[in-house]
Amino acid sequence: MCSKTTRFDGKVIIVTGSSSGIGAAAAIMFAERGGSVAIHGRRQDKLDEVAAKIESVSGRKPVSVTGDITCEKDRETLVNETLKAFGRIDVLVNNAGTCEPSGWQTDIKLLQPVLDLHVIAPLDLSQRCMPELLKNKGNIVMISSIGGLMAPRGYLHYSIAKGGMQTMMRTLAAEVAKLGVRVNAVNPGYIETDILRDEELKKRIAANPNFTATFNPNGIAGKPDDVAEAICFLSSDAARMITGSTNTVDGGKTAFLQF
Ligand SMILES: NC(=O)c1ccc[n+]([C@@H]2O[C@H](COP(=O)([O-])OP(=O)(O)OC[C@H]3O[C@@H](n4cnc5c(N)ncnc54)[C@H](O)[C@@H]3O)[C@@H](O)[C@H]2O)c1
Ligand SMILES: *[C@@H]1O[C@H](CO)[C@@H](O)[C@H](O)[C@H]1NC(C)=O
Ligand SMILES: *[C@@H]1O[C@H](CO)[C@@H](O)[C@H](O)[C@H]1NC(C)=O
Repeated sequence: MCSKTTRFDGKVIIVTGSSSGIGAAAAIMFAERGGSVAIHGRRQDKLDEVAAKIESVSGRKPVSVTGDITCEKDRETLVNETLKAFGRIDVLVNNAGTCEPSGWQTDIKLLQPVLDLHVIAPLDLSQRCMPELLKNKGNIVMISSIGGLMAPRGYLHYSIAKGGMQTMMRTLAAEVAKLGVRVNAVNPGYIETDILRDEELKKRIAANPNFTATFNPNGIAGKPDDVAEAICFLSSDAARMITGSTNTVDGGKTAFLQF
């Protein structure tokens, strides 16, 4: 693919949950490729580190907003600050997320916050950005999960929420396709980030330090940059024909039969 079309000069990209992991890697990659980025997360110190990295690779300061993405006011501030600094929005990456174990016995009250984070927040942000995306023929990337496509035993609420995100991606894509806006999903498998630190996974990683590589059929322990590459491609003009699509970055986990 022509590298020129995967550059982001003059484009403005919002990445939620970009203080670490996949979001941070994507924000840095967008900046390296010419984009102006708005980063967002809950921890100021970690956001500052990412902001410094972005400035060092691109020579440009990102917009940096601290807040909780499940809080409506914080979402409004993120969009406002981005528009105030850069005057436009071309790409929204709905990436912020957490992953806690749950199952059929888990208190039903614990589902709502998971839906707030993975469904309500991304939909509300998509709505808020849509006027700009329509104007600029922009696009949205939803960071879902292979757990939104197939059953991750032990993660019931997460799976319900990511499945909702997946359906939202397709239906939004269908609504705005004719208007020139694209909406796609990236579905990571196990990628080595802070999210893999819940108690169940800690146990598995303690038993096998090479757990992620062994889990993935291709034997590779996926890194945040592996997912960031997919995000950058999908949100670039090189992907103009791609919308409503599911894009696994999982070393083959969901495609292969297990033998
Ligand atoms: N790492 C994996 O194996 C994996 C697999 C499938 C899907 N994902 C998805 O990728 C996305 C990024 O996760 P990651 O692996 O980089 O983990 P991470 O923990 O490094 O990053 C998640 C980011 O989201 C932010 N965040 C979480 N809740 C938030 C809130 N309420 N308000 C604002 N920010 C919030 C965190 O602060 C952090 O910056 C998530 O949506 C996750 O579900 C990750
Ligand atoms: C965002 O901007 C709008 C329009 O300028 C303004 O009415 C609103 O109060 C702002 N919200 C926040 C949270 O700053
Ligand atoms: C980790 O697992 C992969 C895939 O099974 C293997 O290729 C690699 O050699 C392993 N690494 C270590 C340190 O055991």
